Amino acid sequence: MEDSLVQRILERKESGNIRGLMTTKDKVDFVSNDYLGLARNETLFQLINMHVGQAEQVNKNGSSGSRLLSGNSVAYELLEKYLAEVFISDSTLVFNSGYQANLAIVSSVPKKGDTILYDQLSHICLKEGAWLSKADSVMFAHNDLADLERKLKNAIGEKYVIIEAIYSMDGDYAPLHEMVSLCKKHDAKIILDEAHSTGVHGDEIHEGNGWAIEQKLQEDIFARVYTFGKGMGVHGACIAGSQVLKDYLVNFARPFIYTTALPLHSLVSIDQSFRYLAKHGDVKGQLNELINHFKVELKRTLVSQGEYYYLGSDTAIQPVIIPGNDRIKLIAAALHTEGFDIRPILSPTVKKNTERLRISLHVYNTKNEITRMLETLNRLL
Ligand SMILES: Cc1ncc(COP(=O)(O)O)c(C=O)c1O
Repeated sequence: MEDSLVQRILERKESGNIRGLMTTKDKVDFVSNDYLGLARNETLFQLINMHVGQAEQVNKNGSSGSRLLSGNSVAYELLEKYLAEVFISDSTLVFNSGYQANLAIVSSVPKKGDTILYDQLSHICLKEGAWLSKADSVMFAHNDLADLERKLKNAIGEKYVIIEAIYSMDGDYAPLHEMVSLCKKHDAKIILDEAHSTGVHGDEIHEGNGWAIEQKLQEDIFARVYTFGKGMGVHGACIAGSQVLKDYLVNFARPFIYTTALPLHSLVSIDQSFRYLAKHGDVKGQLNELINHFKVELKRTLVSQGEYYYLGSDTAIQPVIIPGNDRIKLIAAALHTEGFDIRPILSPTVKKNTERLRISLHVYNTKNEITRMLETLNRLL
């Protein structure tokens, strides 16, 4: 009965990009998205448990339903109010994950006769939202303003431009100021995914409130999507925008309507992680110091190699391109044996011949670990 599934798995194996689940222990973490160490922060853990314990809510274990039925709570409403303050927006709407938030807004807001223009390197949940939508969807070359402008000129109906603040596979930034000017010129609305910038960028009051706010561009962006499972160390996501947008999503976004709401524990975790970060903004400085150390050490250790190339990144995501699925898998496995947890990103997740080690940096990595890892990589290449 499962012959066709077995066949497809075999095809994956033969093409060298079969996926499998694994757990790791006692390796240096260069893979997780816990850039600021909040997922493992003991003080934050205690604060979350204390506040969950003190909450007056009846449904403490599970939310018991969709937010439109029994899943809504005072805790949800207070959290959204607080997040609207943090993200300097009229309103916020919390989602169970970034995947759902992106799918929800991109699939439900642009309508038939409109055009979605998405960056080629957009996360799959943004692309899937575009494919689910009844609007036309058009891809533009990564961060390429000229290509975007050409496509904006041909676009019909309302125009929505989908970009990320920091791209998850290349670790580079969107040219946000230029994107905002171009979209203003062509009367297009920006939907900005801040998945990898939430927590690590922001103003000095709330610290983790993202790249658009750090650049003082929040007023010029139609909707901003923040996720909490990466830099914030917890789980969930929210969309920040106008009250009208929130009302619309509550009525039309199926990934919001037809799912069980988050449990109290998740709501308290989001609330506490932002309150914690507001008081401990210095962690961002620690992360930047490690990013600089990585760049200096990479130049020193890998400069003479010919078969790899380094994309160059100022963020905690540092990709080193080593073409070929088989080769990159061997190198990642050898690094693992040497004590470093770094996962290979294979094609077709990235374009053929741009297979890469996606090295993520965290405040709990030491300079010595970074240097040792790069020297080991140099030996293996
Ligand atoms: C750019 C980007 N957007 C959205 C998501 C999805 O967020 P979540 O993990 O909260 O579902 C990810 C996750 O990898 C991501 O990298």
